[in-house]
Amino acid sequence: AKLHTLAKSKGKLYFGSATDNPELTNTSYVAQLDDSTMFGQTTATNSMKWDATEPNQGQFTFSGADQIANLAQSTGKLLRGHNCVWHNQLPSWVSNSGFTAAQLTAVIQNHCGTLVARYKGRTFNLSEPFNDDGTFRSDVFFNTLGTSFIPIALNAARQADPGAKLYINDFNIEFPGVKSTAMQNLVRTLKQSNTPIDGIGLQSHFIVGITPSTASQVQNMNAFTALGVEVAITELDVRMTLPATPALLAQQKTDYTSTVAACQQVKGCVGITLWDWTDKFSWVPGTFAGQGAACPWDENFVKKPAFDGIAIGFGN
Ligand code: G3I
Repeated sequence: AKLHTLAKSKGKLYFGSATDNPELTNTSYVAQLDDSTMFGQTTATNSMKWDATEPNQGQFTFSGADQIANLAQSTGKLLRGHNCVWHNQLPSWVSNSGFTAAQLTAVIQNHCGTLVARYKGRTFNLSEPFNDDGTFRSDVFFNTLGTSFIPIALNAARQADPGAKLYINDFNIEFPGVKSTAMQNLVRTLKQSNTPIDGIGLQSHFIVGITPSTASQVQNMNAFTALGVEVAITELDVRMTLPATPALLAQQKTDYTSTVAACQQVKGCVGITLWDWTDKFSWVPGTFAGQGAACPWDENFVKKPAFDGIAIGFGN
């Protein structure tokens, strides 16, 4: 099966994968990425983030971001922009400059406006505004501006490109619970104040054996789409404690199926993005010691049982 072609045939906009600039020197990797029947969409893992695009105030560097945008264009892939505002990978001139509310407002407007204007017609997101308990994350944006940083960023993005789809993206909002409820309340508040919000990104960094069930994910997606926003699975992977055994790989296959099937059952779930497709370039081992093997292809670019799990989730 070719996963993007399959997703399209089942009514989704795309199936895709994130990619990162250093990986593009690996010819085996690029050969798989170029196949847009497999991956019809991409997201820049790192190179569109604030530290990469505006390392110093007012000095924009788009070389890495352009490389991914050009790759998407030349191979016929949709591109999702990632991200406009995020607490992480934020240069210290933003986080530590002691900006006043008015100054930080202008900084956000300039950053989001410039980024979104450069990559018109794409989707862009603001990432991870919440703590796991549903309170707002204590970062420079919230601490300086309260929740108003969210409409400030979204309005600047909409003004820069009225055609851009605007998302808020987070983790641990893929199942019913306090954090998902907090995100739903935020969507309501934004809608009530006519702030542009088109979708919610469900990151979906799951763990083998404790991935939320299809029913739980469907219920959660429906809670968002009922508010008048679409959803997308934006960073899917399913990690395990190494070594990968046949039993873990079989459970991982089931977990991929559960997640893809949930998106398949919800009309307003527009597409699915893997947070890279090969274990060779997964972020997981660098962050969680002793864990990994989270992707549907192994580190030698060979399909794992999880690949079939994805196709089964789409109904094939
Ligand atoms: O660029 C530097 C390089 O100069 C330096 O030599 C090297 C040494 O460690 O680090 C490089 O930066 C790394 C960067 O990735 C680029 O490779 C950072 O240390 C590393 O922390 C960073 O990790 C990224 C992580 O976000 C940062 O939080 C991961 O690749 C990326 O996959 C991950 O993605 C995030 C999403 O954006 C948001 N959702 C969660 C997801 C997983 O954490």
